Amino acid sequence: EALTKDGYAHYMLKEIHEQPIAVANTIADRLFNDAIADDFIGADAREILSQTKQIHIVACGTSYHAGMVARYWLEAITQIPTQVEIASEYRYRKPVIPANTLFLTISQSGETADSLAALRFAKKAGYLATFAVCNVANSTLDRESDECILTHAGPEIGVASTKALTTQLAVMALLTLKLAELRDVDIKVRKNLAKQLRTLPGIINQSLLLNNQIKVFAEQIVQRDHALFLGRGVHYPIALEGALKLKEISYIHAEGYPAGELKHGPLALVDDKMPVIAVCPNDELLEKLESNIEEVRARGGELYVFVDHKSQHGLKDRVPYLIEMEASGSFTSPIVFNVPLQLLSYHVAVLRGTDVDQPRNLAKSVTVE
Ligand code: AGP
Repeated sequence: EALTKDGYAHYMLKEIHEQPIAVANTIADRLFNDAIADDFIGADAREILSQTKQIHIVACGTSYHAGMVARYWLEAITQIPTQVEIASEYRYRKPVIPANTLFLTISQSGETADSLAALRFAKKAGYLATFAVCNVANSTLDRESDECILTHAGPEIGVASTKALTTQLAVMALLTLKLAELRDVDIKVRKNLAKQLRTLPGIINQSLLLNNQIKVFAEQIVQRDHALFLGRGVHYPIALEGALKLKEISYIHAEGYPAGELKHGPLALVDDKMPVIAVCPNDELLEKLESNIEEVRARGGELYVFVDHKSQHGLKDRVPYLIEMEASGSFTSPIVFNVPLQLLSYHVAVLRGTDVDQPRNLAKSVTVE
C-alpha cells in the first residue's frame, strides 16, 4: 500500500500532488498552439457543437461544481446559454428542453446512479446529443453517452475528489475553447485563454509549494466546529467546493456562499469563533469582495484569505491570515484557487485524525440512489 501511495501519507495527498501532470496529460494532444484538435471529442462532435444553441449540464457533488464553473466560462466566452443542475433534482422534474440543446454529464466514476438516470432520461427527451466528461473509460456513462471526453486524471482512490475535478475543469476549458473557435470568437481572446491553459500545470505546481503556509491556517481551523467559505463570480463554486471538501473529510460543518449574499443571512453566524475562508482572485469583483471581507472583520470573524500576489488589494494589514498566490489569468484562476483549499481540508482532517481517504458514511462512487 505504501508503494501505491508513492510515499505520501494518504492517497488524497498523492492525488493533490499529481494535479500538474494530470492536467498536462488531459490537455496533451488536444491543445495545439491556439487550436483544439478536431478529434478531441468524436467524429460527429464538430457538427453537433456547431448546431448547439443551449447546454444543460447535469452532475453530482464535486462534478456539479465543475459544471458550475464551466457555466461562467461558456456563457462569458461563447455566449451559449448554459444551465447546471444536480442530477438527483433534474431526474425528477420536467425540464424544458429548447431545440438544439446539448446535454452534458460530468462524472469522475461514470457510475453515479443519479447522473446515469439523468442521462437515460435525456436520451429520450429530445436533446441534440448527449455528451459526457468522465475519468473512467468504458464506464456506463462512457458507453451510454453519444460522445465521451475522457479526463486523464488516472485512478482516483481518495473519496474526496481532487485531481478529478481539476481535470474535469481542464476538459471543460478545452470544450469552451472549441466552441469559441467554432463561433469565431476573437483570435486574440482565444490565444490568451489557450496560453493560460498551457501554463496551468506550472502554476498548480507553485500553489502546492504553499503547503506549509496552509498548514498554519489548518492548525487554527482544526479547533472550530463551523466554517464559512466565500467567493464571487466564477470563484463562488470554488467556495462551495472548499466547504464540501472540509465537511467531507474533517466533519467540520462548512458552508460555501457567494460573498455578496452574506448580508442576507449568514452574517448572523459570524463571531470570533467563526473561521471565514475567502478566495480573492485579481478580478473585477475584487473590490466588492474586499468590502464583504470588511463586513466579516467588523463582526470579529476570523479571516483566512487567499489573494493573487499581483493584485492591488488592501488586505495585508487588515487580515491576520493571508496567503499570496502566484498569479494566473482570470480563465484558469478558479482551478488554481481550488488547490490550496484542497490542502487546507487535508491538513485539518489529518490534525483531527479522521480517515482522510475513506471518510465515514461515504463511498467513492454512489451507485445507488
Ligand atoms: C467529492 O469529493 C465527492 N466524493 C462527491 O461529491 C463526488 O464528486 C460525487 O459523488 C460525484 O461522483 P462522480 O463524479 O463519480 O459522479
